[in-house]
This record gives sequence, structure tokens and C-alpha cells, in this order.
Amino acid sequence: MSAGNDAVRVMEVGPRDGLQNEKALLPPAVKIELVERLGACGLPAIEVTSFVSPRWIPQLADADQVLGAICRRPGVDYPVLVPNLQGYERARAAGADSIAVFTAASEAFSQRNTNASIAQTLERFAPVIAQARADGVRVRGYVSTVLGCPYQGEVAVAEVVRVATALHQLGCVEISLGDTIGVGTPAKARAMLRAVASQIPMAQLAVHFHDTYGQALANVLACLEEGVRTVDAAVAGSGGCPYAAGASGNLASEDLVYMLNGLGLHTGVDLSALAATGQWLSQQLGHPNRSRTGTALASQ
Ligand code: HMG
Ligand code: MG
Repeated sequence: MSAGNDAVRVMEVGPRDGLQNEKALLPPAVKIELVERLGACGLPAIEVTSFVSPRWIPQLADADQVLGAICRRPGVDYPVLVPNLQGYERARAAGADSIAVFTAASEAFSQRNTNASIAQTLERFAPVIAQARADGVRVRGYVSTVLGCPYQGEVAVAEVVRVATALHQLGCVEISLGDTIGVGTPAKARAMLRAVASQIPMAQLAVHFHDTYGQALANVLACLEEGVRTVDAAVAGSGGCPYAAGASGNLASEDLVYMLNGLGLHTGVDLSALAATGQWLSQQLGHPNRSRTGTALASQ
């Protein structure tokens, strides 16, 4: 690997991005066990849940209960998704010390996902981020639809750069670039990342791929070569986005860690424990494991 150091931070988003789009409604106790099992695998960052409107995402309506009950490991980051001040206040009351705000590079997607324009979402975030900084809360920002939109199609790289820069200027310490519907391919992913990295330090960027067209790992590899060292993934390849029709699950964390191990990049993650967690989660969800590595390891 040419650029940067040999440590990769895996941001596990399964309990949030995974479960928000699963048909099965898991009980809070299972979600709490999932977060704790993921912590035991050595993951440095686990997105626990989402304090969005429970009418919009009923799967995570128990966010307060879940976040309040997890047993935290020292040094592990436990962010939660927050769309507005109301969500921030709920998250803080449940004990959040790390949040993620989210907007998009496509106007059409922003409207469908948050009932607001991109500009309106940024206006909503300003007081949330200011309060979070005053409270010592870490803030990550997501930009969705960075490689395509289910409603408007092509998304200009300049828009991705503009929105990512706006989040950075508002005070997000990390910006995750999301291919929400998994349409990207490696050369496009690389060019998009390179353009954003011309404005924001690479060390503050993350990539977030969904695997709809089977391109997620190839896209990650291209972005690693470009120098990114934070990668989002979801155990068992769970999830998708409910406001992005046809979007399949996230890149599976097991597949990511298997590739990173093969590249000699260090994650601190115990792959066999992660694969066992993915098998267990798939049983809870009542469908086959969507991780190729997880399936392969389970059959050995
Ligand atoms: P809205 O309906 O426009 O909100 O939704 P509103 O401000 O007009 O309020 C309407 C009602 O919602 C009120 O209740 C509020 O109290 C309530 P009522 O008076 O009618 O009883 N409400 C809330 N309740 C609980 N918690 C809150 C909250 N806010 C308002 N935080 C809103 C606007 C943003 C809330 C809504 O559109 C929403 O929740 N959207 C979330 C959609 C979502 O979660 N999508 C998936 C996450 S993004 C993603 O997956 C992409 C990502 O993975 C990266 C990638 O892949 O690209 C991050
Ligand atoms: Mg996502």
C-alpha cells in the first residue's frame, strides 16, 4: 500500500446502518448484545443507533434504551446518528458522547431522507454541532449519494466537495463519504476522494460503501491507495438505506477485515470473533449471512 501508515480504523455501522433497514425488528436486548459482541471483537468504533424520528425509522425507535444500556469499553468510540437538535437532546439524555450528523450531495435525496434541502440540513446542524463542541462531544458528518442518487442520477463531484467542506467548516472532525446506493466503481471513487482531499485532510476522511453492484471492496482498495485510513462497514453486510430504493447492504465488515489482513494493514479486529458475531446476527435477522468471508469461515 503506497500512501500513509499501515493502520486502518474500521467504523462498524451494523447496529445503525444495518438494522435501520432490516425487516426484522430486533428486541433491545439483542441490539445491546450485538454492540457488546462487536466491542469484544476489538472494533475501535461502533455506531450504536440513531436518534432520528421513530416514525421515519421504527427499527431504531428504542435508541434511548439501547444506548443507555450498553457496556462501554475504554477507548472505543460509540457514535449515534442525530438529525436535529431534538435528536441531539435525546442522544445526550441517553449518554451519547459522540454523534454523527448526515446530509447529502443530492438535493432530491436530501428531501426524501430528511424532508429538507441540503442548505436546510446544514442550518439545522449549526446549533447541534456548536452545542456538541461545547459539550465535548465528537462530531462526525456524513455526505450521502457521493457517487450517484436514486432520484436524480449523476451527482457532481463539485457538489460532494462543497457539502463535505461545509460540514468540515461547521466543526465535524471526520467526514464520511457515502455511496448510499452502491453504484460507484473504483476510478470514480478514487477521483471523488481525491477531489474532497484537496480541501479536507485525508486523515479526517472516511469512506462508506454499499455493495449493491458488488463494487464495495474494489472501491475501498482504490481509496486505500489514495490514502484513506477510516472505512465504514457493517457486520454480516446488513442493512441499506430505507430512503434509497434498491440499495443493498453495506460492505460486510468481515470481508473488509479479511482483505485488510491480506494487504498487511492492521485493524486490531479479531476476524474469527467478528465472523461468529455475523453468523449470530444473521440468525437473529432470519436471513442468510451476506458476508462472503463470514459464510466461508462458518463452513470450515
Ligand atoms: P420531519 O417530519 O420534517 O420533522 O422530519 P419535524 O421537525 O417537522 O417534526 C415532525 C415530528 O417528528 C414531530 O412530532 C417531532 O417531535 C418529531 P409530532 O409533533 O408530530 O408528534 N421529531 C422527532 N422525534 C424524535 N427524534 C427526533 C425528531 N425530530 C423530529 N430527532 C427528520 C425530519 C429529520 C426528523 C426526519 O426526516 C428523519 O428522522 N429522517 C431520518 C431518515 C433516516 O434516518 N435515514 C437513514 C439515515 S441516513 C443513511 O442511512 C445514509 C448513511 O448511512 C450514509 C450513506 O450510506 O450514504 C448515513
Ligand atoms: Mg449507509
